[in-house]
Amino acid sequence: VVFGIVVAFLITFGVLLGYHSQRFWELAGSKLGDILGVEKSAEQIDADKEHVGEEGEVDFKEHAKFSSHMKQKGEAASEFSKTKSLTEQRQYLPIFSVREELLQVVRENQVVVVVGETGSGKTTQMTQYLHEDGHSTYGMIGCTQPRRVAAMSVAKRVSEEMECELGDKVGYAIRFEDVTGPNTIIKMGGVLFHTSLSTVDELKSPAVEHVVIMDEAHERSLNTDVLFGILKQVVARRRDFKLIVTSATLNAQKFSNFFGSVPVFRIPGRTFPVNILYSKTPSEDYVDAAVKQVMSIHISCPPGDILIFMTGQDEIECTCFAIAERMEQLEANARKAAAPLSILPIYSQLPSDLQAKIFQKAEGGACKCVVATNMAETSLTVDGILYVIDTGYGKIKFYNPRMGMDALQVFPVSRAAADQRAGRAGRTGPGTCYRLFTESAYQNEMLPNPVPEIQRTNLGNVVLLLKSLNVENLLDFDFMDPPPQENILNSMYQLWVLGALDNVGRLTSLGRKMVEFPLDPPLAKMLLSGDELHCVNEVLTIVSMLSVPSVFFRPKDRAEESDAAREKFFVPEKNQYRGDWCNDHFLHVKGLRKAREVRSQLLRHILKMQKMPLSTCGSDWDVVRKAICSAYFHNAARLKGVGEYVNCRTGMPCHLHPSSSLYGLGHTPDYVVYHELVLTAKEYMQCVTAVEPQWLAELGPMFFSVKDSHTSRLEQRRKQKVEMTVMEKEMEEVRRSQAETARKS
Ligand code: CDP
Ligand code: MG
Repeated sequence: VVFGIVVAFLITFGVLLGYHSQRFWELAGSKLGDILGVEKSAEQIDADKEHVGEEGEVDFKEHAKFSSHMKQKGEAASEFSKTKSLTEQRQYLPIFSVREELLQVVRENQVVVVVGETGSGKTTQMTQYLHEDGHSTYGMIGCTQPRRVAAMSVAKRVSEEMECELGDKVGYAIRFEDVTGPNTIIKMGGVLFHTSLSTVDELKSPAVEHVVIMDEAHERSLNTDVLFGILKQVVARRRDFKLIVTSATLNAQKFSNFFGSVPVFRIPGRTFPVNILYSKTPSEDYVDAAVKQVMSIHISCPPGDILIFMTGQDEIECTCFAIAERMEQLEANARKAAAPLSILPIYSQLPSDLQAKIFQKAEGGACKCVVATNMAETSLTVDGILYVIDTGYGKIKFYNPRMGMDALQVFPVSRAAADQRAGRAGRTGPGTCYRLFTESAYQNEMLPNPVPEIQRTNLGNVVLLLKSLNVENLLDFDFMDPPPQENILNSMYQLWVLGALDNVGRLTSLGRKMVEFPLDPPLAKMLLSGDELHCVNEVLTIVSMLSVPSVFFRPKDRAEESDAAREKFFVPEKNQYRGDWCNDHFLHVKGLRKAREVRSQLLRHILKMQKMPLSTCGSDWDVVRKAICSAYFHNAARLKGVGEYVNCRTGMPCHLHPSSSLYGLGHTPDYVVYHELVLTAKEYMQCVTAVEPQWLAELGPMFFSVKDSHTSRLEQRRKQKVEMTVMEKEMEEVRRSQAETARKS
């Protein structure tokens, strides 16, 4: 019977997973960045969590960036790049006019913050200027890129401009992929410590980077923030080392202060003024208010494209529908034909051919009305927007350490984000921004800046990383905005439970192995267990699928149809995922491709770097379940009622979603482990696997003994608390004795 349950997993080319959540298409995390190592996607950072692949978006961004510049000159982008040489193109960029001043400031200062609009030439030009100015004679010029695809594309562009082969003078190094050589002087890449360092001290040696550009620092990605703390130490110890931090206007002063009031260099921008209009009273229903505003603009203002910011797919679909309805009414009532309006939704779970529409000219010269998530805030640029309608809300992911759970919630955006949104109306001409909130809300209720990722996320990877860099006391580490202490301790506790840290908080040999994988700690553990249990092949697929956003597409108007399609995967079935096959089965082809790519990268990594043989267990799913269990026993839950479970350790209620493949088999399993708990209507478990209770006792002895599994919730909590206190105490003692020894010596 248990086997039957297990087989009821969702299988895509042999993947055994149960995905479920009523809103999984929104919530399925963009874990992509995690597996790809430290290079996180911007969308992860803005926590919109609706991000699928990266390539498409980056292309759009580059394209849009480029064409906007060209439009200002009244030329089409393709014409410009066709007719002008690369040198001419370089000289046209805003940064070119301040080249000398910039180099002067860099010569005179160890740390400089550079501020400039997207597309002004910070990344591609500054790296070359530094080289031209002789900085490369002392060591490499490194430029960190938070996004993987961006690293490759800017490296390619710079190598073209410098007329050399990619990987020769100019290269990139990202997780699993090092396209640099002995001649490399400009290196784009993920955060440096993963590619070239094993301890903080290594950066002190002159052999590595002489200049580091920390690019896109305003994004405040988790790893940017960690790097800030590390490079601050390097700057203090290595006088010859230079650091340049690039940023949008947002945060520039803060960065300067962090390094001790260093100069902020501003590249003059080319933007137009935006008139900002506030709502007089707070709006009850911002979807409704936005729809009314669109109609009023469309009827009475000069024609121009409109961009509306909403929080997620649901609202976007709802808004589009309401606007379409109002347009129909208008047509019916008007004596002469109303001007057409092309209504375009955009959120990253939207298939890319539909996404691409926002960049195309609307049919019959109609105005465009783009309804977007905060994806359109910085990640992509739509040209020709004259009107912005800002609801003032966005979705942000928050980690709750007590529940060990991420919750995606709607929050008011920050003032900085609202200003960024308004700025979108002034890219190609003077524009107007309608804020659907009051001026007093803007002044008094909104936070000045967004909460950085490091303060609202699980820190498992950060702890592992810093430990591996020999940072002893994480609570004392110089974070620009320190994460809540509770989050650090909780992440340390989780790592201890997984066996990555010992009782005194030092990295164990298992922990050391886990650092080698660019994965969340449980996933790294699962791979290592897979090796022990001889099912690496199977586990690899599961890990890859868990590392990309959900591959299931579920448009609202075809919900039933897509659910039925998804049910087909509840039984084993092998398939090739061609585009049309994916469409028929409501699968995101992009997500599946990404998973395959991740899998092959991981495979290369484990075979080459880890020398781990590719073992397989055939169809012995028990072994696979056990490997999963070994990584997730802290997320074990016991059956309580129909679809109702409680977390074995914390007593937290957690639910099996009705759309889960394990639901309604007439036989829901007594014990399960889950990948994540996501709070929507209820606390729903995502990616659930049936497990045997004795495995929990065997694999997580610190939590469970067989009879223990029925002890009271209070007792479990007490036990957990005692364990954490003991660990903290021991760590404190070690620290004290180490300090003592250091003092003596
Ligand atoms: O870093 P920043 O956003 O300031 O600009 P950049 O990435 O250095 O790009 C400057 C210009 O180079 C862009 O506006 C594009 O015209 C061009 N570029 C490109 O054609 N292809 C790339 N992969 C990157 C930049
Ligand atoms: Mg850049």
